[in-house]
Amino acid sequence: MCPSIVRNTRASERDVSVGPWRDGERARRYDSASNRHFYGTLLAKLAMGAGPFPAGSGLDLGCGSGFATEGLLQAFPGVAWRGVDVSAPMLARAAAKPAVAAVSLCHAAAEALPYVAGSFAVVVSNFSWHWFEPAAGDEVLRVLQPGGWLLVSAPLRHFSSAEGNRWLARKLHARRRNFRRLGSQGLRMEEMANLLPGEMRIHRLESVVIEERFPDAQTLLTTLESRGSLHAIFGADGLESFSDKPESGLAFEWHVGLLHAQRGP
Ligand SMILES: C[S@@+](CC[C@H](N)C(=O)[O-])C[C@H]1O[C@@H](n2cnc3c(N)ncnc32)[C@H](O)[C@@H]1O
Repeated sequence: MCPSIVRNTRASERDVSVGPWRDGERARRYDSASNRHFYGTLLAKLAMGAGPFPAGSGLDLGCGSGFATEGLLQAFPGVAWRGVDVSAPMLARAAAKPAVAAVSLCHAAAEALPYVAGSFAVVVSNFSWHWFEPAAGDEVLRVLQPGGWLLVSAPLRHFSSAEGNRWLARKLHARRRNFRRLGSQGLRMEEMANLLPGEMRIHRLESVVIEERFPDAQTLLTTLESRGSLHAIFGADGLESFSDKPESGLAFEWHVGLLHAQRGP
């Protein structure tokens, strides 16, 4: 087991694609009140109708700075939660939160979890699965108990006609030379149903829309960048790709897939 923030020797951020998450300054920008609201809202939607879980441990996989962990502790106080993330700066932000202090946090990659088989009654991934390599599915299957639960929220690849989405799409189109197709851009709905390589009994699979309003396009861009969303599209170029004067008052829609599934026997 991984009792505290330690470096997992099997796989670490040296071996997997950490995307934008390695950077301490980015972790600081991520850990904002508006992001707490966004990720907390997502977690609340994901937790709806879930549980009770069999007695035992739960894993917040890709726990980041602990927003979802806080929600899980409140929603399911009977579960002994642990957190794993590949980013040391994000974990340090989680460890500094009083509400998360009692949670065992582990610096490891989803693709090589430092837990023995069948360790968890439930694994939760709140807006992090789209960053994982496919090997994470094998690992989650391994660490879940037979009959254990998998709860995932992930952004869907979906075109929305909200004005903020259209504004961003126009910018993307104008900068299409920079466009790189990365897995972290989101999942398709049918991919959500096949996250684990083994048998999964699906109890809930739906898409929801989360709408946010931004005072201007610059705020929209910096917020999306803090969540890694622009990095997923442009790689390291990020915000520098947008030089046009921002417009004002933009609604932005996130189409999110929610999955509740149970590992087969
Ligand atoms: C958008 S954040 C979500 C964090 C958290 N679940 C929340 O609700 O606030 C995505 C997180 O996934 C983590 N991550 C990305 N790739 C990972 C991997 N291969 N293994 C473990 N964590 C990973 C990042 O470091 C980041 O903290």
